[in-house]
Amino acid sequence: MSTAEEKLRAAERAVDFVQDGMRLGLGTGSTAALFVAALGRRTASGLSVLAVPTSEATRRQAEALGIPLATLDDEPELDLTVDGADEIDPALNLIKGGGGALLREKLVAAASRRMLVIADSAKRVTRLGRFPLPIEVVPFGLETTHRRVAAVLAEAAPGGRLTLRRDTAGAPVLTDGAHYILDAELGAIESPAELGAALKAVLGVVEHGLFVGLADTALIGAQDGVMEIVRPTPSRPGERASCG
Ligand code: A5P
Repeated sequence: MSTAEEKLRAAERAVDFVQDGMRLGLGTGSTAALFVAALGRRTASGLSVLAVPTSEATRRQAEALGIPLATLDDEPELDLTVDGADEIDPALNLIKGGGGALLREKLVAAASRRMLVIADSAKRVTRLGRFPLPIEVVPFGLETTHRRVAAVLAEAAPGGRLTLRRDTAGAPVLTDGAHYILDAELGAIESPAELGAALKAVLGVVEHGLFVGLADTALIGAQDGVMEIVRPTPSRPGERASCG
């Protein structure tokens, strides 16, 4: 089974987790786009939801499909966010931000009672870090921030590489929030929570792509169906350990 088919299976299964009247967070990326497309078919046939997109790209897609939209300021508490991931470890810690939307993705996931991750099987890893970790930074003073981040990474993962993300024309990629992204090639991340806290403390860093304790359930497309992985302990007060 191809990666595209696995993504489609996971995305279509995720629609089963959506109930009438839910306030949803809509993720970003190719897998999330498949979910948004499937959700659009359901809303067109009568399902009622209100959705907060995590990027301008997702907002445009959802708008074109007629999915009712709100901002996170309109709806600061959401029922469920469905989003993709670049890596998923056994504890459902994630690396996200390959598509550059990590800041809004994290804000929306953190505002949601549950986060459902959808992905193809290649995204499962025993330890995070093979995928370069995106770190969103303010453009002003980029060089000083780059040095501070590099110093933190030298402690946490010696020998890693830190590069400014550029587009095909060589210009720095700008996020929806008009920030830059540094990609950290680390190989392996020993402690995602510790590294995340250290990066957050760096002046000039807006956010990083480590999602620790946010995802509750992962739906992984596979040869023989969709594998559902549920985090054993609730991540936020008042919620259930399994989703849907
Ligand atoms: C977007 O910023 C990312 O966090 C995506 O969710 C992640 O890169 C997964 O993307 P795909 O679904 O395209 O693999």
